[in-house]
Amino acid sequence: MDKIDFKEFIERVRQANDIVEVVSEYVVLKKAGSKYKSLSPFKREKTPSFFVDPQKQLFKCFSSGYGGTVFDFIMAYEKLDFMGALKHLARRAGLSFPSSFRSEEKNEPLTKKLKLWELHEAVAEYWTRILFEEPSGEPARAYLRERNIDLEIAKAFGLGYAPNKWDGLLRWASGKKDYLELLEPAGLVVRTESSKIYDRFRGRLIFRISDETGKIVGFSGRLIEGDKGPKYLNSPESPIFTKGKILYGFHKAKTAIAESGKAILCEGHIDLIRLHAVQFSMAVATQGTALTEYQAALLKRFCSEVIVAYDGDRAGEDAAIRALDILLAEGLEVKIAQLPPGEDPDSLISKNGREAFEKVIENALPYPSFVLNKACMEYSPQQALGKSKIAEKMVGVLVKINDPIRRHTACLEVAARLGISLEVFEKKLEHLSTTTSQFLQHDKEDQEEQQVWEEKICPAILESFWFLMEYPEYIARFKEIFAPDVLSDIPGGDLLLRLYDSGKESVKRMDVNHFLETLPLEQKRSVVSFMFDPARENQEGYAQEEHFMILKDQLLLLWTQKRLEKIKLQIELGKISGKEISTKLKEIVDLRKKLL
Ligand code: UTP
Ligand code: MN
Repeated sequence: MDKIDFKEFIERVRQANDIVEVVSEYVVLKKAGSKYKSLSPFKREKTPSFFVDPQKQLFKCFSSGYGGTVFDFIMAYEKLDFMGALKHLARRAGLSFPSSFRSEEKNEPLTKKLKLWELHEAVAEYWTRILFEEPSGEPARAYLRERNIDLEIAKAFGLGYAPNKWDGLLRWASGKKDYLELLEPAGLVVRTESSKIYDRFRGRLIFRISDETGKIVGFSGRLIEGDKGPKYLNSPESPIFTKGKILYGFHKAKTAIAESGKAILCEGHIDLIRLHAVQFSMAVATQGTALTEYQAALLKRFCSEVIVAYDGDRAGEDAAIRALDILLAEGLEVKIAQLPPGEDPDSLISKNGREAFEKVIENALPYPSFVLNKACMEYSPQQALGKSKIAEKMVGVLVKINDPIRRHTACLEVAARLGISLEVFEKKLEHLSTTTSQFLQHDKEDQEEQQVWEEKICPAILESFWFLMEYPEYIARFKEIFAPDVLSDIPGGDLLLRLYDSGKESVKRMDVNHFLETLPLEQKRSVVSFMFDPARENQEGYAQEEHFMILKDQLLLLWTQKRLEKIKLQIELGKISGKEISTKLKEIVDLRKKLL
């Protein structure tokens, strides 16, 4: 292993990380012709503009502009540099990173993330071992028994216990220098004003907080011993942890969510574990804070319907209503599960079993009906004033539903409940909806912004590039016709020069991925973007030689045009004499004659 050279290692890591599998940890890919597509993991969008080509092992996201190889994907999503992405993917595939490459590390802040992930993994293992194996884990084991949480499910979720001590983690990390110095940036220890350091999590049952791919990015601890501090304590934000981007349990739930097309959204850690324990595997939890747009977008990447199962109290109901707006804005279908007063999913299932929660889910109300019910409790649907108030409230809800059929169905329900005609109600709706329809503009603006860089390289060059990637044996003939000085007159021509320089003719099939990684970012984006252009799909199927001739003609025509434009400009600027003009034009004519 030590003898392996760097490039070889990169290829080994690439081979071990199929782009479709890697990307599938972040989105649900659907087959589309020879490629896969999904909603963008980079930008919120309503229609899929993210594509993966399994043969070429490339991806392209038209809404964010990102595109490239599996390394580019990880760099863009995880915000790592190339070395970071390489290490991360090596780890993912279980390949150890040769120590001789350490010197290649340049960017400290970016590799710090990798170290933090590693630290969290190690700390999680440490706390889990205490819970399941150490005498000091007894208080937590007793707590699990008391709450009726099976060891099996506790193990599946990697629960742990941080004993009620000030220096548990500090002692564990002593002698592990890398870990010790990261405990503070990770928020696992706290520093007092007098610069004393102590453990943040003490006497707490520990929940691992993972991101959507399962990397541990933080912890939450429920107080079970000593009674200081809040019931639940969370890791503070760190370079790897942003609370609003995480849904607890998502990593475990995502397969079930993708398969059923549905997610159950609950509030608490124990709720989530209880739900999974009784096979509601598509449950995720907000961890008690308000749902964010980011979390809603994450759900939208994996499913189309969310059932909100918040606590059966006023606070839970209010939180549910706030979550609804965000879920709807993301284009998700939403239902509200109504729990009996005073119960949360955990307590309901503990008392009355799985069936009780199953019923709650079955009876979950679609969003408009839920609001209608609530409004009818607040105002009287029998009296004129009440009717008017309820109608107003419902209009505010219905304008958010984009699908005309669903909206109409909901209107029918409101009209029937209020005993008014559909016409009257829809009139009110029309009036109000005109004021709220501007927010559909966004997607368009974004797309215009990213056109700019895609036009810098001539399409004929991009097509030639992909042609040569496919048939490197033509590079020699290209070289003969399009010498460097000819190519330098065509916008983007240097892309082909790079290909000439790479000495790839000798290789049978081009290693597209490797070559792309050597390109500057903008060029890479254009090249990848062109490959994913839907218009291109239908153009394939030329015989090689025929395709070559077409490309040759196109490039020559382009070159002539650019050449003439240049001469014209020089004439206008008075930089060129009459005699020089005729020699230059003759040059062009001669060259064309020779080539065509
Ligand atoms: P709850 O107060 O409803 O607690 O908080 P719970 O989930 O029923 O917890 P148990 O059953 O008593 O153990 C709901 C969620 O809000 C967050 C936690 O994520 C919790 O699961 N929370 C609550 C905090 O972050 N801090 C707190 O102090 C309390
Ligand atoms: Mn609870």
